[in-house]
This record gives sequence, C-alpha cells and structure tokens, in this order.
Amino acid sequence: MLLEKIKTTTDFLLEKTNGFRPEVGIILGTGLGGLVGEINAEHEIPYEEIPNFPVSTVQGHSGRLIFGELGGKKVMAMKGRFHFYEGYSMEQITFPVRVMKAIGIHTLCVSNASGGVNPTFDIGEIMVITDQINLFPTNPLIGKNYPELGPRFLDMSEAYDKKLIAAALEIAKNNNIKVSTGCYTALTGPCFETPGEYRYVKNIGADAVGMSTVPEVIVARHGGMRVFGLSIITDLGVEGKIVEVSHEEVLQIASAQEPKLSLIVKEVIRGL
Ligand code: HPA
Repeated sequence: MLLEKIKTTTDFLLEKTNGFRPEVGIILGTGLGGLVGEINAEHEIPYEEIPNFPVSTVQGHSGRLIFGELGGKKVMAMKGRFHFYEGYSMEQITFPVRVMKAIGIHTLCVSNASGGVNPTFDIGEIMVITDQINLFPTNPLIGKNYPELGPRFLDMSEAYDKKLIAAALEIAKNNNIKVSTGCYTALTGPCFETPGEYRYVKNIGADAVGMSTVPEVIVARHGGMRVFGLSIITDLGVEGKIVEVSHEEVLQIASAQEPKLSLIVKEVIRGL
C-alpha cells in the first residue's frame, strides 16, 4: 500500500543518511545533471539500493539520490528521473516526490529539456515555467486518495509558485542571463512531435513541449509543496523552423545551457 511504501523508503533514507532532513528537492532533467557538481554532497545512494524505487530498465546506468548542501540549504537531488514512456506507472514516476514530502521537503525545483513552440523562442532559450498542461492520458492522482497525502480535488491555480518565478526573473536579470517565461506541456513520448502535434500544443496555449515533469508537479502540489521549474528549449517546433531532432542534440544543447540553469536554481534556493 502506498502509505506503507512511502514510510519504508523514508525510514531507509533517514537511516542511510544518519537522519539527514533536506528541505528542498531537486529533479534534474535530460542533460542537466551538472548542478549535482555544485552540491556539497554528504550522501549518494543509487536508485537500485532504495526500496520501492523503480528499477531502471531503459538506460544502461541508473540514477542516484544526492543529499547535501546547495545555496545554504539542505537538498535532496534526483540525478535521473523516471518517464512514463519507459513503461512506469504514474505512481512509480511520482513516488520519489511522495518520499520528498514525507522526509520534510517543502519546495521542489524541477528542470527539463523541451521543444519550443512559441515562435519568439530560440534554441537554447531558458524558459521559467509559469504553468503546465497535462496531456498524459492519465493523472497521478487517479485512484484512492489518501487524505494524509493531500486533497481529493486539488487546486492547481498556482502550480508554479509566483514568488519563486519573480525571484528567478530577478536573478536572471542581475546575472545578464536571458530568460523567458511560458507554459510547459507534456505528451507521453517517446516520439518527438510531428509538425501537426507541435501546432496542436501551440494552439492549446503551450510554449514548450516535453515528456516529463507534469506528473511530479501534480504530486508535489498535492503534498502542498512549492514548485519552481526551468526548461531548456533544445529544438523548435515552430512552422518553418522544424528540422530533424535527435536525442544527442537535445543532450548537447541542454548541457551547453546547464551552467546558467544551475546558477538560477542555486540562487532561487539561497533566497528561500
Ligand atoms: N519534444 C518533446 N520532448 C522534447 C523535445 C521535443 O521537441 N525536445 C526535448 N525534449
């Protein structure tokens, strides 16, 4: 049962880390793992050692949890996340966020790589996520609701925290980093979008499209956590600018922009 699983995993992590209680959670997206290098890591635990964590089947190397200090705060970072297209259930994908909440985390920072459909965007653009649209064919809150974890009917009027968005914009300005704001949507993948699908997500109000983040943010909000998110635009789904996309290119563009993303995340955390 979910509540027992959360307790087992939380107890395991507390024991493994001698009672380390992070207050900020970080989920690092494709090509954006560099932030890990900035964390003064005290404990690192591979996912396969953690009870109830999904076992990575797709990638050759699995991810890990890093416990340490960043921006003067105790953090727990996920290097590597679980995607719906890998075949995991919504409960499996969002389980780490449930554990974050149970361990005492009040703020979640997420990052991802995405395709830009806003015609003003350039490749490499850093988008501060201001809203999201769930286009997965399901929702992580479907099924029995545990009132201990959150409400049955969750308000999502401010999925991404307005104060943290404002803080990020200020930090970007002070550091001469060009950022934009926009709404992120996610499809299941693993296909990148057809031109028609890019047009569709643009028409329904999205600025960028990816394959992650939306479920984790829903569960974070369910647990009452504040959420902050950044997306790196690694390719364009804009009419006239659509070219072939490859995973390698996505990784390369994301990595190139990663230092700027790291700076913003670190300073947002410092200001919490
Ligand atoms: N579509 C979906 N996911 C992505 C994209 C995209 O164009 N780029 C990076 N992740």
